[in-house]
Amino acid sequence: MSLLIKNGEIITADSRYVADIFCENETITRIDRKIAPPKGADVVDAKGKFVFPGFIDPHVHIYLPFMGTFSKDDYVTGSQAALIGGTTTLIEMCCPAKSDDALASFELWMSQAVGKSACDFSFHMGVTRFDAKTEKQLRTIVKRGISSFKIFLAYQGAFGVDDTELYRTLKLAKELGVIVAAHCENETLVSERCKELLVAGKTDPGQHHESRPPAVEAEGVHHLLTFAELTGAAIYIVHLSCQEALNQAVAARQRGVRVSIETLIQYLTLDKTYAEKPQFEGAKYVMSPPLRDQRNQEILWNGLRDGLVQTVATDHAPFDFRKQKQMGKIDFTKIPNGIPSLEDRINLLYTYGVKKGKIDLHTLVNVASTQVAKTFDLFPRKGTIQPGADADLVVYDPNYRGKISVKTQHMNVDYSAFEGWKIEGRPSLVTVRGQVAVRDGKFVGKRGHGKFLQRKPSHF
Ligand code: URP
Ligand code: ZN
Ligand code: ZN
Repeated sequence: MSLLIKNGEIITADSRYVADIFCENETITRIDRKIAPPKGADVVDAKGKFVFPGFIDPHVHIYLPFMGTFSKDDYVTGSQAALIGGTTTLIEMCCPAKSDDALASFELWMSQAVGKSACDFSFHMGVTRFDAKTEKQLRTIVKRGISSFKIFLAYQGAFGVDDTELYRTLKLAKELGVIVAAHCENETLVSERCKELLVAGKTDPGQHHESRPPAVEAEGVHHLLTFAELTGAAIYIVHLSCQEALNQAVAARQRGVRVSIETLIQYLTLDKTYAEKPQFEGAKYVMSPPLRDQRNQEILWNGLRDGLVQTVATDHAPFDFRKQKQMGKIDFTKIPNGIPSLEDRINLLYTYGVKKGKIDLHTLVNVASTQVAKTFDLFPRKGTIQPGADADLVVYDPNYRGKISVKTQHMNVDYSAFEGWKIEGRPSLVTVRGQVAVRDGKFVGKRGHGKFLQRKPSHF
C-alpha cells in the first residue's frame, strides 16, 4: 500500500515548503521536491492546499458516565467526526467513578475503543481515588503504555480527589515520569456558591458561571501548583479559561514548577453571554470551567501566540439538548456539563485564529498537534511531517467555504454550539497511518483501523 501526495504546501510547527510526500504502508518514507509516482501508488494532487501533520486532540470524552447520564458519542461516531475535522489521534480521559477499580476501568475504556475507533487513540488515566491497591494498579497501567494521569479538584464525590490523594498521586507521577493532567476548580467554593444561588431562586443556565467565577479556577491552579512545587511532578492544566488562572500558572512557572497549559476552542471563540441565552438555550453552553467574559479571548489567543499556552483541545463532552441538558431545567447544577466540538476545532482555529491574524499557521500546527505529541510522549511518531513518522496527514483546502450546522455534523449530538458559523477552509483529505480516512468531507476509512498508542513516560 503506497500513497503519494503531490504539490502540497507542507506546514509544520517550524517549516513551510512545497514538496511531494511518499508514504509506504503506515509511514512517511520520502519527502522531495518532485517524486515520480511509483507503480500502484494512490496519487493525490494537493496543489493550492496545505498539508498538515495529523491533528491530535489531547482532551476528549467519548465514553463518559457523568452527572447521571452518558455522553452521546461512541468510538464509531466520535472517531469519524474527529477525522472529518482533521483530528487523527484522540487522547481520551479514562474517568472511573471513585468506587471503581482503576485497572478494570482502564480495560473498560480500552474495550470501548478497540475495534471501533477509526483513528488512533490513547488515554489519560483518571486517578479518582488513591490507596495501596490503586497505586499498584497505576504502576501496571503505566507499564501497559499510559504516560499521563488525570485528576479532578472539582466534582468531589464523583471524580474529585482530596489533598492527601493529590499529594500521593503527584509523588507517584514524579517517580514514574508521568505527567498529571488536572481540572482545577476549588470544589468547596463551587458547591457553597451553588447552594446560595439556588436558595436565592437563581436556577437558570446563566447562573452556572456565577457559581464558579475566575477566582475559583485561579485558586484551583494555585492550589495544585503548590503541590507540584513540593513534589516536583510535571503538570498539564486542562481547559484553562481565563486571565486569573493563567497568571497563577505563569507565576508558578517562574518559580520553576513544570507546567503546561491547555485551553479550549470554546474559550477562544465563545463567551459567557451564550450561557445567558433565554428559553434555556443557554444550557447548550454550560461547561466547566464556564465560558468567561469576552476579554479573556484575546488573552488566550495572545498566550498561544507567545507560547504561554501550549495546546488547544476540545474537552468534547456531547450531551443532547432535547433530553439530557433538560435534566437541569429547574436547577442549573443538574445540567450535564460539556460543549461538543470535536469535529470543529481545526476549522475554527483556522477561520477565527489564522484568518483573523491572531495566530499563524505554524502556531496552529504547534498547539493542535506538535506540542500535544511532545507533551504526551508521541513525538516524532506523531505531530510532524518527516520520514519515519506515521503517515497521518491532513490535506487542507483553504478555498473551501461553508457553515457549521447540526444538520451536516457527524458528532452524535442534537445541536451545534456554533450553528451557522462560517468556516473558511476544511480538510479535503485525511490519512491515518497511510490509509485514506476522509475525502471531501466524507468518511471513507475503516472502523477499527485506529490503534492504541503505547506511550513511555518521560517527565522524570
Ligand atoms: O464541562 C466539562 N468540561 N465537561 C466534561 C468534564 C470535564 O470537566 O472535563
Ligand atoms: Zn474538566
Ligand atoms: Zn474533560
